[in-house]
Amino acid sequence: MPTRQRILITSGPTREYLDPVRFLTNGSSGRMGAALAETVLERGELPVIVSGPVALVYPDGAEIHYVETTEQMFECCLQLFPDCNGIIGAAAPCDFRPEYFSEQKLTKSEENNSIVFRFVATPDILATLGQIKQQNQWIIGFALETKNGRDHALRKLKRKNCDFIVLNSPKSIDNETASFQIFNASGELCADLNCSKKTLAKEIFTLIDKYCIVTTKEMS
Ligand code: C5P
Repeated sequence: MPTRQRILITSGPTREYLDPVRFLTNGSSGRMGAALAETVLERGELPVIVSGPVALVYPDGAEIHYVETTEQMFECCLQLFPDCNGIIGAAAPCDFRPEYFSEQKLTKSEENNSIVFRFVATPDILATLGQIKQQNQWIIGFALETKNGRDHALRKLKRKNCDFIVLNSPKSIDNETASFQIFNASGELCADLNCSKKTLAKEIFTLIDKYCIVTTKEMS
């Protein structure tokens, strides 16, 4: 029976709907997820991608699960994670969703020239998987920060029980090349790179190979 690693990758943005046609989202392109999936395939392993809506095409050979909302991405990852060796959270899921969804399209009227929304937190995928991860599974997170990057990244690393966290900045959104710093679970800087997302993907797997326990899971 052939066995190869199954690597779960979250990718792209999510959408949180206000009404049937309007939604909250961000500019994540899915390029990091695609670069990771390509690298996983080159290594002869299986990328299992859970992706929000993206314009790009993921590489042939990847298992792809498309979702829209953070809640759907969360449910999908919760189901898939037990059969995977690890997860790389390259997605930029919306952290908040509107508290109420309007079944009807919101319209402006003469009496109504402003509108107030209340947002509630969505589930944190990596933090939840971080609580249930087994000893032979690993978690890699990303932290996109605008200030005090290192401090915020290290806090997320701990809270989400990650093995490594990749710090980057808004400049990496929808860009092929950017600056990345990778910290290990002890908070030590392991790599400081200015490179393409593909090179970063390879570096991430170099660290996984070196430091994370790897067992093969049978492909379904
Ligand atoms: O949004 P935040 O800065 O906390 O994202 C850091 C990491 O957590 C990223 O790897 C992202 O994919 C992941 N994340 C998640 N579930 C969320 C929000 C973020 O897994 N709801």
